[in-house]
Amino acid sequence: MSGTKQKVVLITGAGGGMCTGINARLAKVGYALALVDFSAEAVERAVQAVTAAGGEAKPFVADVTDPAQVHALGDQVRAEFGAVDAIVNAAGVLDRKYLKDHDDDSFARALGINLVGPFRIIQEFAPAMVEQGWGRIVNISSIAGVTGYPYPSYAASKAGLSNLTRSLTIDFWGTGVTINSICPGVVDTPMVIDEVRRQVPRKVPTERIVEPDEIGAVAAFLLSDDARSINGADILIDGGATRFFQLFDRP
Ligand SMILES: NC(=O)c1ccc[n+]([C@@H]2O[C@H](COP(=O)([O-])OP(=O)(O)OC[C@H]3O[C@@H](n4cnc5c(N)ncnc54)[C@H](O)[C@@H]3O)[C@@H](O)[C@H]2O)c1
Repeated sequence: MSGTKQKVVLITGAGGGMCTGINARLAKVGYALALVDFSAEAVERAVQAVTAAGGEAKPFVADVTDPAQVHALGDQVRAEFGAVDAIVNAAGVLDRKYLKDHDDDSFARALGINLVGPFRIIQEFAPAMVEQGWGRIVNISSIAGVTGYPYPSYAASKAGLSNLTRSLTIDFWGTGVTINSICPGVVDTPMVIDEVRRQVPRKVPTERIVEPDEIGAVAAFLLSDDARSINGADILIDGGATRFFQLFDRP
């Protein structure tokens, strides 16, 4: 980080499993955290975990799919912290539905959370970053946005999020704001079902599940000045799972 003012990062989905690692790492490098989730209980627990470890965090309850709630969130966060310097969009949902199982609304609902939500959050908070000439945005996408994936709403929303990331580099041209995606593989959170956990040694060359802290470490790097030339990237953190033709198992 540079400058004297303590930088502020807004993290959505902050009450979730992956954010245990992201919140802790960003608090450790000195960010003040505006933690957002639509579960009041989960975000309160996340704030307690950060403050118990000596960090600074405040809870905010909002549904990122609702424009009115995102605008209200903007007002609340600015009243508490002033301008936000960085965003981590981690709110997401994995709807395990195949084509035949989707109803009229379910596909749009998943896109609303995983793709439109980050768009709304960026639209609300990025103008202040542009104004101050420095900002960092990290979108938590997925390897499901890089390869095909069994659940189409998840795959399409995450592919959309990664391409939103690439495309917004043009909006932020010359502004001092960078935007990148992290594409995790299988991370040790409640989102992961036991069957997938069991597959990890056969499907992931590192033979290990990724810890939330590893995602936090990369997010912290992307938010640093050292990462100032990394822009529009998809950073894969998947132990190499997407790097080989999956019809081959380990030798
Ligand atoms: N766990 C994995 O293996 C994995 C892998 C790749 C990508 N991801 C992505 O990482 C992110 C975090 O996943 P996780 O494993 O921590 O899942 P999680 O379910 O533990 O956390 C997601 C959080 O987002 C919140 N949320 C959901 N919809 C919201 C909304 N509309 N508004 C505000 N908050 C909302 C939930 O309340 C929850 O606290 C997600 O975007 C997910 O798609 C996870």
